[in-house]
Amino acid sequence: MRISVIGTGYVGLVTGTCFAEMGNDVYCVDVDERKIDHLKSGVIPIYEPGLSAMVSANAEAGRIKFTTSLAEALRDSEICFIAVGTPMGADGSADLQYVLAVAKEIGQTIERYLCVVDKSTVPVGTAAKVREVIQDELDKRRLAVEFDVASNPEFLKEGSAVGDCMRPDRIVIGADSERAIHLLKTVYEPYVRNTGNFLVMDIASAEMTKYAANAMLATKISFINEISRICECVGADVNKVRLGIGSDHRIGYSFIYPGCGYGGSCFPKDVEALIKTAEQNGIVTELLKSVTSVNDLQKHVIADKVKSRFGSDLSGRKFAIWGLAFKPDTDDMRESPAITIVKDLTEAGAAIAAYDPKAMEEARHCYLKDIADIEYCPSKYDALTDADALVLVTEWKEFRSPDFDEIKKRLKTPLIFDGRNQYDADWLDQIGIEYHQIGVKR
Ligand SMILES: NC(=O)c1ccc[n+]([C@@H]2O[C@H](COP(=O)([O-])OP(=O)(O)OC[C@H]3O[C@@H](n4cnc5c(N)ncnc54)[C@H](O)[C@@H]3O)[C@@H](O)[C@H]2O)c1
Repeated sequence: MRISVIGTGYVGLVTGTCFAEMGNDVYCVDVDERKIDHLKSGVIPIYEPGLSAMVSANAEAGRIKFTTSLAEALRDSEICFIAVGTPMGADGSADLQYVLAVAKEIGQTIERYLCVVDKSTVPVGTAAKVREVIQDELDKRRLAVEFDVASNPEFLKEGSAVGDCMRPDRIVIGADSERAIHLLKTVYEPYVRNTGNFLVMDIASAEMTKYAANAMLATKISFINEISRICECVGADVNKVRLGIGSDHRIGYSFIYPGCGYGGSCFPKDVEALIKTAEQNGIVTELLKSVTSVNDLQKHVIADKVKSRFGSDLSGRKFAIWGLAFKPDTDDMRESPAITIVKDLTEAGAAIAAYDPKAMEEARHCYLKDIADIEYCPSKYDALTDADALVLVTEWKEFRSPDFDEIKKRLKTPLIFDGRNQYDADWLDQIGIEYHQIGVKR
């Protein structure tokens, strides 16, 4: 099938590539000329495991092309996926300007039938807006062109996006036309052949499903983080409590790891946008507001622990930060807890020596560019040299089993603040490393 994907970010580039991998002819479109130039010359602008090789193979085979011209892409496409950003607007609602700009351009461009699919995370009612904008543009051109607008929220996870796309848990489709459903079934059939998990529903329910899924996951994280705060005060160990509750299959083990808060491009903005949608409909969301406020608090927990240990004035101190990305296996730093932690520590006077396997360029040029007292180190051990303590923020695999002797040798004080509860507290105690983790009293 001939497919266009508009927006070549974490979602668009991965899904476009996975469509090509299945034998489709794919055009990936972006307004960012630099990004498209890079992609044309084989440079992948994001880090996502397995993506680079898949893009190269499909580009070489001529199944994936990159362009800044929507008209060029749509010329031959029967179906077009909108995968542009929907960042948080000033009032917390989803900012739809990029989605609607694409809709406008589609209306100004199409000459024949097109199935337009919202893959971006968008509030209920957006497909209707997209339809209206396209129709307005067609009316201005006095053209009667048939088109459909469908919803197909994306559930991939950064860090395992390629696998998630090739083997999705489910495909959710919101559509009100048989033609659109047929086209989407044709696109997705190879990906859900095993499970048959292709769920067709009305458009509003599909749009809502994405927000409900992210709100549920964010709720689980904030729940365990709140429990961790109580554990710490009463002398319980949240790591043991997690296992105790996770073994109940109604609760399950996933997404109940205590930590220094969730970040990323989705949970924070999607929970906010859902709160806003509720508000616009006269509903007060006590639970969702708490999910957000617990998370905001949680991002400060690690710096608070550092200050309890060293005092609130951290002048003259240096801390090694392991991990800047909002989670492992990505270079994405959007809303990363590392941003809050670095700011809290530097505002208290500390210097930072940071290491992340993939996110240091993002930090240096964007998210931490205003922080003067930060040094980016070539390895995790270099970051430790003469630091007062190690602060672990992102649970990259290379941090899981470090050389603790090397950590002791390099740090001024053998001391770890662990924002992801990665290590065995008893073992660290035996080898003489002072260990502070989330939800465990010291
Ligand atoms: N990142 C994730 O893990 C994830 C997962 C599921 C859903 N989503 C949702 O998918 C959407 C995209 O997220 P992302 O993380 O890929 O965003 P992103 O910021 O990485 O990429 C968006 C891309 O769209 C491009 N763009 C903006 N306006 C454009 C236009 N008019 N024409 C063509 N391209 C344009 C930008 O230049 C950018 O490259 C969002 O709604 C997000 O909530 C994201």
